[in-house]
Amino acid sequence: MAKKWANHPVVAGVGGADLYLDLTGAGGRRERLTRALREAVRTGRLAPGARLPPSRTLAADLGLARNTVADAYGELVAEGWLTARQGSGTRVAQRAEPVPRPHPRPGPPSRTGAHTGARTRAGDREGSDFLRSLQRPFLHDLRPGTPDVSAFPRQAWLTSARRALTAAPADAFSHGDVRGRPELRHALAGYLARARGVRADPGNIVICGGFVQGLTLLARVLPGEAALEAYGLGPYREVLADAGVRTRPLPVDAHGADIARLDRLPSVRTALLTPAHQFPTGVPLRPDRRAAVIDWARRGDGLVLEDDYDGEFRYDRQPVGAVQSLGPERVCYLGTASKSLAPTLRLAWMVLPEDLVDPVIAAKTPAEWISAVPDQLTLADFIRSGAYDRHLRAMRQRYRRRRDRLVTALAERVPRVRVTGIAAGMHAILELPRGAQETAVREAAERRGLGVTALSSFRYPALPGDAEEPGPALVVGYGSPAEHAFTAALEALCSVLEAELGGG
Ligand SMILES: Cc1ncc(COP(=O)(O)O)c(C=O)c1O
Repeated sequence: MAKKWANHPVVAGVGGADLYLDLTGAGGRRERLTRALREAVRTGRLAPGARLPPSRTLAADLGLARNTVADAYGELVAEGWLTARQGSGTRVAQRAEPVPRPHPRPGPPSRTGAHTGARTRAGDREGSDFLRSLQRPFLHDLRPGTPDVSAFPRQAWLTSARRALTAAPADAFSHGDVRGRPELRHALAGYLARARGVRADPGNIVICGGFVQGLTLLARVLPGEAALEAYGLGPYREVLADAGVRTRPLPVDAHGADIARLDRLPSVRTALLTPAHQFPTGVPLRPDRRAAVIDWARRGDGLVLEDDYDGEFRYDRQPVGAVQSLGPERVCYLGTASKSLAPTLRLAWMVLPEDLVDPVIAAKTPAEWISAVPDQLTLADFIRSGAYDRHLRAMRQRYRRRRDRLVTALAERVPRVRVTGIAAGMHAILELPRGAQETAVREAAERRGLGVTALSSFRYPALPGDAEEPGPALVVGYGSPAEHAFTAALEALCSVLEAELGGG
């Protein structure tokens, strides 16, 4: 009897080697098989010249009619991905080899700021390349930073877009308030107060193209030097340095950033923090430190930049509310749709202290004048209609399940790995046994098509006198794979760690 057709990822034998074919997604069997084979050629998993199994063999493997496979082969031959010759079967076309494009690297942006520390340290360089490196595709992607974009709520988003654009006044399509559309600022003020405890007035909200654009604008108006958590995203240090803001590292321990250290940095007047879920170590800022940072800002005319990038995703307790509510006149609260919906929306929001609204608006260049209004109107409707809350609830459950599976699988298969930073978000820290080499493990993972990130790549150059070197660790983002691909990604992770560290 024919095997049942697999509408999930399968490993098929091709030329004596196993080939991963992702047969999920939209369309009929032939379409899905064609797409999976095309993808395998495009990404180089099927190398130029590789011989494909006879259509009869692959059909039997996959539980398909032979004609379906023959048709898929025929289509790919017609498109130039495969060649078919009498006597030599079907092969991957030589010219289909992915040609690495020359990568013009932009020269270093002008740096007016005197950046402390040795910027050339390997960790720092790697950190600043992190966002660029996300362009590299992996068969299994467990790098932090990206949500499960396959779950983007397309239908609900379209419903909101239709409703919002139908109802929008004509002036919505003309130049308007540079703070962003009032519909969105009102919707956000309500949502942020309810869900994150933010004290928000729509008049103090400025919509921006991602957190990074908000930081770019703020960097032009910040007082003094800026303290940054000793672990974080390299590009954000660069944004500040490019604006001439000198940056200083703030040590991070098991309770978040060491706020007391700020008193020893008299030239620092700004602190950029991730209080709800330190990125990437995953710890929340301890309550006394939350209060202490507001006191510090009040004492010395300072400013706190609160990066609330994934504050909605908290699993073990009630969400940790925003620090902003403790001192709204001292905190710029920044939220983003990049984790809750998709990073390519490029939609984020700042809730500013009253006196910073005008300077931030004045700091905008023409290129930064407004964010795309149709998307702002859509997000406003999405929030108002309850679709945002529904989506967040569903994603929270999904990420929580994945986190639990990750923790269980590692405890069973590589108990020498300690998993931390798991109370929130969509990434975890995997502390490796002493002596393990982060880079070697990451490279071994990459050889198997698995993307993970070394913790040290997010490390800021150490403060003089900060002797304590953290142990080796990986940052594993369990959010990014599509639901159907998570099992395979988890399996790949466990087997790489077993092989590199030894199980049991
Ligand atoms: C720590 C942190 N802050 C902020 C963001 C969001 O950045 P953006 O809104 O520019 O996509 C991210 C996304 O990766 C992040 O990891």
